Amino acid sequence: MNIAIISGTPRKNGLTKVVAKQLAHKLKGTLVDTSVLELPLFNGEEEQGRHPSVQWLRRVAEEADAFIWVSPEYHNGMSGALKNVLEFLSSHHFHQKPTLLLAVSGGGKGGVNALNQMRTVGRGLYADVVPEQLIFDPIDFRSGGLSEQKETKLDQLVRDFISNRCQESVSFSSM
Ligand SMILES: Cc1cc2nc3c(=O)[nH]c(=O)nc-3n(C[C@H](O)[C@H](O)[C@H](O)COP(=O)(O)O)c2cc1C
Repeated sequence: MNIAIISGTPRKNGLTKVVAKQLAHKLKGTLVDTSVLELPLFNGEEEQGRHPSVQWLRRVAEEADAFIWVSPEYHNGMSGALKNVLEFLSSHHFHQKPTLLLAVSGGGKGGVNALNQMRTVGRGLYADVVPEQLIFDPIDFRSGGLSEQKETKLDQLVRDFISNRCQESVSFSSM
């Protein structure tokens, strides 16, 4: 089973990347890291299809059986970086593929706005977006990683996602 994890933070040290990297490691999945991918801004021109980053992204999405989208909440929405990734893709890449949504916020009641937007966009892409979702606040992070409590919660969510929604047995290594 091939899982692609898309990290929507454009910041090299963004907290979203902490979550996405950890998942990619545990699931032996492919990390689409928007902070290093150097994807051009989608302009609809055919020649962008020859850009190496675009070709790599489309290949990863094509080969993925399931997705986890992790977005920071920026100005009450998903990040532009994540939306740009999705604009290079289409329903062809997502149709009927289980997709789990996670958001990382600055605290307070943030995160849910990004999740709601991602859910709407996921529907536009015909992704099989599951109802379960999770938000990470600054309090959930400890020196370069997640707090034990949040990590346990995330592990359980992902285990359930894979076994219930992807109909696969879980191969989820602990770190
Ligand atoms: C441009 C920008 C806008 C932001 N807007 C929000 C917001 O509307 N709500 C919120 O909870 N946090 C907001 N934040 C804080 C981020 O959600 C926070 O930095 C979090 O760690 C996720 O972003 P990161 O992965 O880039 O670190 C914003 C941060 C930036 C850089």
